[in-house]
Amino acid sequence: MSSDPKNKATERQWEKLYQQGVDAPRYPNGNVLRWLFGNFPKKDADQFHLLDIGCGMGRHAIMMKHEGYNVTGTEYSQTAVNQAKDWANQLEIDIPFSQSSADEQPFPDATFDGIVCFSVLSYLPYDRYLQATREIHRLLKPGGQCFIIVRNDQDVRKTVGKLTAPHQYKITAQDQDQDNDYPWHKEVGMEQTLLPKDEIQKFFSVFSDLRIEEVTSTLENRKYREASWLIYARK
Ligand SMILES: C[S@@+](CC[C@H](N)C(=O)[O-])C[C@H]1O[C@@H](n2cnc3c(N)ncnc32)[C@H](O)[C@@H]1O
Repeated sequence: MSSDPKNKATERQWEKLYQQGVDAPRYPNGNVLRWLFGNFPKKDADQFHLLDIGCGMGRHAIMMKHEGYNVTGTEYSQTAVNQAKDWANQLEIDIPFSQSSADEQPFPDATFDGIVCFSVLSYLPYDRYLQATREIHRLLKPGGQCFIIVRNDQDVRKTVGKLTAPHQYKITAQDQDQDNDYPWHKEVGMEQTLLPKDEIQKFFSVFSDLRIEEVTSTLENRKYREASWLIYARK
């Protein structure tokens, strides 16, 4: 059984990382750009309302607003929310950023045309992960689309982690490479849910047009492998 079934320690660790000034990415991910412009034509941008769940410091929300879309951002860490607001203010961009957890979003049903959730759900335990996918479905308008990236069960975090509950791993420092600055080192102590493809299919079975792709990259001449599912779905 997990030592922390609600993963509150993981969320507190994210808060601490933002307070310490974690080096969060500032540029949008290419897969998000392709999904955005492929599904929500830029010429009609102001007709679409998009939500970025777990927006961090706001790199995707700010990009989408900059391109003319209506955007809302939510994030568990209040410090990240403040930093996203500061960044948007500096750019003279107005985005409603607020604090909430992915599995309890403060919006009515069928509010959004599109939802992006980039590398967030893996930080939730199994049951809250499932609840978060239900929230995404609830919040989408009929025909609305989502793009979600999650780490999968082939990621290095599984091998450097300790199994604490089914599919859930507490990241430890077992990779013997502590002198190098690998992305998972800042996550030591966090628990992450790393799901195989059939579990993702189960979680997203209420959606239509489900497409799941894998993206991987390696470090140290293939010694370590980072692996994620790219999940595309429609309500
Ligand atoms: C790897 S970062 C990604 C941030 C952002 N999506 C991006 O692409 O830059 C993971 C984010 O998930 C947030 N997070 C962790 N648990 C969460 C939860 N239960 N609800 C919402 N956000 C959460 C963290 O605070 C952190 O900002």
